[in-house]
Amino acid sequence: MCSSRDLAPLVARAAKQFTCQSCGGRTGKWAGRCDDCGEWNTIVEDAASPPGFQISSARQGRGRVIELTDLQSGSLNPSRLKTGIAEFDRVVGGGIVPGSALLVGGDPGIGKSTLLLQVAASVAATDRRVTYISGEESPDQVRLRAQRLGVREANVELGAATSVADILTTLESGPLSPALVIIDSIQTMWDERVESAPGTVAQVRASSQALIRFAKARDTTMVLVGHVTKDGQIAGPRVVEHMVDAVLYFEGDRGHRFRILRGVKNRFGPTDEIGVFEMTGGGLAEVENPSALFIGGRDESAPGAAIFAGIEGTRPILVEIQALVAPSSLGTPRRAVVGADASRLAMIIAVLEARCGVSMAGQDVYLNIAGGLRIQEPAADLAVAAALLSSLTGAALPTGTVHFGEISLSGAVRPVAQPGSRLKEAKKLGFGGAVIPAADQNDSDMPAGLEISLVEDLAALVGRIAAARTEGID
Ligand code: TYD
Ligand code: MG
Repeated sequence: MCSSRDLAPLVARAAKQFTCQSCGGRTGKWAGRCDDCGEWNTIVEDAASPPGFQISSARQGRGRVIELTDLQSGSLNPSRLKTGIAEFDRVVGGGIVPGSALLVGGDPGIGKSTLLLQVAASVAATDRRVTYISGEESPDQVRLRAQRLGVREANVELGAATSVADILTTLESGPLSPALVIIDSIQTMWDERVESAPGTVAQVRASSQALIRFAKARDTTMVLVGHVTKDGQIAGPRVVEHMVDAVLYFEGDRGHRFRILRGVKNRFGPTDEIGVFEMTGGGLAEVENPSALFIGGRDESAPGAAIFAGIEGTRPILVEIQALVAPSSLGTPRRAVVGADASRLAMIIAVLEARCGVSMAGQDVYLNIAGGLRIQEPAADLAVAAALLSSLTGAALPTGTVHFGEISLSGAVRPVAQPGSRLKEAKKLGFGGAVIPAADQNDSDMPAGLEISLVEDLAALVGRIAAARTEGID
């Protein structure tokens, strides 16, 4: 049986769309409170979509296409501007590309403003026009910081503005367009054509759009500074990340001196490069030999520490992996990880138990990467397992030895990329031995003079550490 409602004529209606001005969440109907972020009165109906285009002869040729092979070689290899800060240049792919837009994100107080003021001063020293706009600090505060950094005399224009229209007017004035503009931060900017408050999705999107359009039109490099929310995302819409050419994160632990600049998106270069800096009383200093820093100050006789020979981008880096395995008083033992992937640790613990009979049930497990570095490579598995086993047995690992290798669920130790470069770095820093996957031994690039121990599977590593322990007891 049909109700009268079922018989109602089906009228094609344009579906309305609503967007939350705080988080960018979209919904099909209006509500007083956003379901995604919980903010009140932020949901606004999207403007109706425009009617279809009129095709006219006046538009002919405007949306022109060209043959791929017609590209000039200049556009294939953009000329880059070296900022003079080598660690920064490395991350952006060998210098900044004129007309590009960069987003630099990071926790408050990590050193974004400091880094970018140093970059600004360094570019200004090459006689280019550089403008630094701060929406958070007064010019006096910026000047004080510049004094602390020893760049007080740098020829950088300072502005304390938040209106995008005012900023663009200033940038357009003057005989030449700036080579570099720093906007610190994009969350403080507002475009008067948009009604919502600074920092909201709509404002951040509109301001970024206007600034990036200027950058493209004038061949200016635009650097936008972005705050990071508690869960580590750049606040504001994801769309800003899509609008810019490169996204860099400045990270590190505030309790440590090291700061890592990491590329997560780059239209003009690789994304896996990192730049390493050290925060000093006089600003950020470049760290040319990060391995020496990350493994410095360690106690080799303490159980639970293993040195991992890793690769970050094109550069080998040695880091210390620390583990603590201790009896737990909790029903569900703790598994805490700083600087590595927690699910990777859970996997290694499970493989140790299932394939080697080493149980950590009833034990709390803590894993820490020294120096505030974050490790993403699966090649660190073997070093993590060695650190866990060393802490569990209470026997220190052999001194002067590095570890690398990926562990598979079967317990096999799989080969990793660039074993030769990892071992060369270890040798350079005075290490005499290495525990590596058996399948990596035939790499053509292996350095001589290291005592190499090959492991086929995780059980072989367990055997080695158990043997070392009995020797220690004898
Ligand atoms: P800042 O660049 O203001 O961070 P962000 O812009 O990311 O919020 O850096 C602030 C921190 O850096 C502050 O805690 C003090 C420290 N710092 C130094 O240790 N040395 C220095 O020379 C400077 C300028 C700052
Ligand atoms: Mg700042």
